[in-house]
Amino acid sequence: MGCNEIRAGIVGVGTYVPERVLTNADMENMVATSDEWIRARTGIRERRVASAEEATSDLALVASRRALEDAGVSAGELDVIIVATNTPDMLFPATACLLQDKLGAAKAGAFDLLAGCTGFIYGIAVGAQFITAGTARTVLVVGAETLSRIVNWKDRSTCVLFGDGAGAVVLRRVPGDRGVISSVLRSDGGGGHLLHMPAGGSRQPASVETITANMHYVHMNGREVFKFAVRVMGEAADEVLHQAGMGREDIDFFIPHQANIRIIEHAARKIGLPMERVAVNVDRYGNTSTASIPLALEEALQRGKIADGDNVIMIGFGAGLTWGGLLVKWYDYKNR
Ligand code: ACO
Repeated sequence: MGCNEIRAGIVGVGTYVPERVLTNADMENMVATSDEWIRARTGIRERRVASAEEATSDLALVASRRALEDAGVSAGELDVIIVATNTPDMLFPATACLLQDKLGAAKAGAFDLLAGCTGFIYGIAVGAQFITAGTARTVLVVGAETLSRIVNWKDRSTCVLFGDGAGAVVLRRVPGDRGVISSVLRSDGGGGHLLHMPAGGSRQPASVETITANMHYVHMNGREVFKFAVRVMGEAADEVLHQAGMGREDIDFFIPHQANIRIIEHAARKIGLPMERVAVNVDRYGNTSTASIPLALEEALQRGKIADGDNVIMIGFGAGLTWGGLLVKWYDYKNR
């Protein structure tokens, strides 16, 4: 890459999870399940649940303020706000616009991005393009979810899996060879029915019938999604590396979407990385969808797992079906 080429990189990270913890023991009191089953099948021990007053934009707001502070950037400097979410406050206006208002980001354009649990990967890929194209200087990308609001708490096959949370990053041009090196975005709408919320849109507007039939909840074919996830995680990693002219041996740290520890371990084996170089938070937060990767990123930074110049690979998959990956050469913005 020529030294004049513009690259976007992460220059601030912030997260937020609600205070309320729901343990597997709590789940045992709600549905016919067991701590042993949940841990063995998913690796999840507990998850967070938003309070009745908290909606997705509230979680996003705290994470965003923390990311802006971490970046040393004011809300007024934001040019674009992208909120990746599957659980917007409402169908419209966009949660990104609600966030824009709460932040007081007076000159920012704002939009939501719906790409299942891959939304955060899509968000960074899209946000980075504004910067490399020269149409924006500062972009806020947020992954925020209140999945507890669309989970059927009587369905043991899904309710044990998900959690609420939010993560945000600030993107700006970064110097030298640092920043987002490559990105891969994929989809297969033919698998849409494997993970969906059937009603509440123009196909099946909300009605007494749709509510009675539990059609406003997450419906998932867990086995098929599992097989899909295992297949595409390795493929996406290879594609981002290929695009960057790198090999698996060049990866320093891996941040996978946190849906299931078995999927994470399988992907790590495929990529050939030991688990100490793989981010894991599914045990404490469950599947927080678009928030899982930024939550895991911040934790890895706090634990000193990522250093300047490290090649960090992030891979996501989810409803759509969608999947995708990013390769980021880490820019140590803290010590610039
Ligand atoms: N507690 C106890 N038993 C349960 C539970 C539970 N919470 N849930 C299901 N079971 C039972 C089932 O009823 C089934 O019983 P049966 O054999 O008598 O019918 C048995 O356990 C096995 O069920 P499976 O669905 O085959 O279990 P599996 O090993 O596939 O694990 C799981 C289920 C954890 C959902 C797994 O398939 C998985 O993780 N899939 C991927 C899901 C995923 O990643 N989703 C997120 C995608 S990202 C996004 O966009 C949101």
